[in-house]
Amino acid sequence: MIYLDNASTSWPKPESVVNAVSDYVRNIGASPARGNCTAALDALGVVLDCREAVAQFFGCTNSLNVIFTHNVTWAINIALHGMIKSGDKVVSSTMEHNAVTRPLTTLAEKGADVVYSPCDSRGHLDLDAFRKNIIGAKLAVLNHGSNVTGTVQDVVSISEICRSNGTVFLLDVAQSAGIVPITFAQGPDIIAFTGHKGLLGVPGTGGMAFSDSFDTNRIQSLAQGGTGSLSEESRHPDFMPDRLEAGTMNGPGLAGLLAGIEYLNSIGLDEIYKRKMLIAGKLARGIEAIPGATVFKPLPDKLWTAVVSFTLADSCTASIADYLSREHNICCRHGFHCAASAHRTIGTFPGGTVRLSPGIFTTMDEIENTLEAVRNYSE
Ligand SMILES: Cc1ncc(COP(=O)(O)O)c(C=O)c1O
Repeated sequence: MIYLDNASTSWPKPESVVNAVSDYVRNIGASPARGNCTAALDALGVVLDCREAVAQFFGCTNSLNVIFTHNVTWAINIALHGMIKSGDKVVSSTMEHNAVTRPLTTLAEKGADVVYSPCDSRGHLDLDAFRKNIIGAKLAVLNHGSNVTGTVQDVVSISEICRSNGTVFLLDVAQSAGIVPITFAQGPDIIAFTGHKGLLGVPGTGGMAFSDSFDTNRIQSLAQGGTGSLSEESRHPDFMPDRLEAGTMNGPGLAGLLAGIEYLNSIGLDEIYKRKMLIAGKLARGIEAIPGATVFKPLPDKLWTAVVSFTLADSCTASIADYLSREHNICCRHGFHCAASAHRTIGTFPGGTVRLSPGIFTTMDEIENTLEAVRNYSE
């Protein structure tokens, strides 16, 4: 198999990630912060180490300001449903994933004022329109990297606009974390992440990190339950991170996420970005050279998360993807990628695109073979 669906979930995982998950399941086993045995302390150690690793990765000075969830979708839901009430204004963009647009639709049905600020045909937010739309907004929620085009938003400028308006800025880094550097130094108030894509962990992990200046009491907790702390009380703890977490942690998953972040740190994001540009750049140029092909991506001088979304004239994206899978065992994704509004923005609705997303282990040979396969299809 040639696996080119890393924007969905990264694969293969580094050996260290596989070993960390397996070691937890085989040798630790116990529940973090529950039980009296050394294994329970080891389990808690994994959770605390992972919290610290995530905090450092995003430049968050206090690891108690990191909470874990099942994925970024849950994190975004906690932030949106925990902060936005009927009558509140929220600004987002036309390039968002359903993880943002669906909770916003529910909130709009409950009386929130939801505004989608426009982006250009390559997916970049129109900052002038955003500056106007943001007036009076309690919260802005945007992705850092688009899962359709790989376009990376200008977080520093967007943060400045939000700050000058007193608006909380929630940033979805599902596609960019582990590829493009992103830290609180660039200005967001909340960073929501998923563990199983660029961070190289396994599915079932994700969460949110908060900046020092953000008051986490502004988010009402949506779930209450066991935390392993203050067990004698019937009321859920009001201190971080427990107030926004409830129930048994995904210990094996967090062991994998910790190993994934350590792997990224050992190589360095600059090196990873360079390698991804080499591989994805070759793939994009090769597809652009095929008659009738269009690649939807930012201009070469802009940051890019290395996803190659394309169409072929007079071809349905489902049949291209089906051919690549059936005839060449190439794993990719076609259609809307859970982001129909992004396709309307870049002009690929209702056909969608075929998305090829290389990972850090993709080889040049795999790229050559994929290009050959797409050329064969188009002939
Ligand atoms: C930009 C973006 N946001 C959110 C998500 C949702 O991620 P998860 O399913 O891990 O919650 C995705 C997944 O593809 C994404 O690309």
